[in-house]
Amino acid sequence: MHLSVIGCGYVGLVTGACLAEAGHEVMCTDIDGGRIAQLKSGDVPIYEEHLDEVLKSAGKAGRISYTADAGEAIRFGDAIFICVGTPPREDGSADLSAIDHVAQQIATEARTSKLVVEKSTVPARTGEELKRALEAYSRGGNVKFSVVSNPEFLREGTAVYDFFHPDRIVVGVSNEDAAEKMREIYRPILERKFHCPLHKNGCPAEPKGEFLVTTINSAELIKHASNSFLALKISYANVIADLCERLNGDVEQVTHAMGLDPRIGSQFLKAGLGFGGFCFPKDIQAFIRLASSVGLDFDILRAAERVNKERIERFLEKVNKALWVVKGKRIAVLGLAFKANTDDIRFAPAIDVIRRLLDEGAQVHASDPEAMERAKRILPGVTLHEDPYDAIRDAHAVLICTEWSAFKNLDWERAGQSMARKLVVDGRNLYSPKKMADLGFEYYSFGRG
Ligand code: UGA
Repeated sequence: MHLSVIGCGYVGLVTGACLAEAGHEVMCTDIDGGRIAQLKSGDVPIYEEHLDEVLKSAGKAGRISYTADAGEAIRFGDAIFICVGTPPREDGSADLSAIDHVAQQIATEARTSKLVVEKSTVPARTGEELKRALEAYSRGGNVKFSVVSNPEFLREGTAVYDFFHPDRIVVGVSNEDAAEKMREIYRPILERKFHCPLHKNGCPAEPKGEFLVTTINSAELIKHASNSFLALKISYANVIADLCERLNGDVEQVTHAMGLDPRIGSQFLKAGLGFGGFCFPKDIQAFIRLASSVGLDFDILRAAERVNKERIERFLEKVNKALWVVKGKRIAVLGLAFKANTDDIRFAPAIDVIRRLLDEGAQVHASDPEAMERAKRILPGVTLHEDPYDAIRDAHAVLICTEWSAFKNLDWERAGQSMARKLVVDGRNLYSPKKMADLGFEYYSFGRG
């Protein structure tokens, strides 16, 4: 099928690349002409594992193209995937102006009937508004638009894997024809007929993702409800960690046992510095606002958000208590990205932690395997080191802010020898308290006594 993708950010590029790799003809466009020029010259503007190779392979097969002309892209596709940003407004609700702008472009540029697919995360009832906008902007023309909500469940860092191995593909539609066309688009993924860049010798048989057809409002709700629930789960684990600290329990033992109950599940129970990134913090807020716009107080989500914000305070309390005086101390921060395997620092707890340390007069030295280029632009007062051991040298304390495996596997015997004081405050519970104590470290983490 001919598909158009509007918006070449992380969602749009992964969607476009993977659908092209699955056999469709894809044309991508973006309001940022520089980004299109970059893509045309073979440069990938974001870091996402395997994206480069999928784009190259689809490009070589001639199945993916880029244009700065939105009209050209809109006329190309039978289905148009809207992948533009929906950032938070001041009050936490989602800013849908980019979606509105795209609706105007589609309505005025389309010459044949289109399936208009919302991929961006949007609050429930956006599909209804989008349909109304498309009809209004096309001013009674003959072109018919069918709106579909097809939320993405991709995790940064594993987005390509997630696209090819979905747990579920949700399509919210208003008619059977739209559902059939969406099934056609995803058929290669559902039937596992794609070249999987992750398993060169054939994908191991794994359960197929379930193809779920719902109403448009339900599909939109599924996305916000899923992200908010995961965020809630993390905050729950973090409160358990606080309880463990007061009652002398061990949060790792407690959450491990909890997770063995399949009704609970073991994922997203990791206590520590809490959740960041561009999805959970904004989605939870948008969901709270959406609920309040229809007279409901989503107070459990407000509590989850509050608990998450408190993580930074708890962490800094530990640092202050251990160091006594922060001013003038050399502090090594390991990890800048909001989680491992990404260069994304948006709403990353590490950034808040560093800003507070700088305010208190600490000398901050930091290291991150992927995020330093981005961090450099917003943290001018920080000395960045490629090698974590250089960041650690002469430090009065090492703070762990991201769960990179490179940090998990650090040689602490070696690191300790170069430190001014053998103190580690671990915001991701990466190490065994006993092992760190045996190596002579003062070691603080979350929820472990
Ligand atoms: C999240 C969802 O997992 C995806 O399904 C969704 O598609 C995506 O948002 C989105 O809406 O686009 P992502 O933001 O990439 O994906 O990050 P996650 O891997 O979910 O992690 C979120 C945060 O929670 C990270 O800061 C991570 O460090 C933290 N986290 C995660 C914990 O603190 N504890 C845990 O146990 C798990």
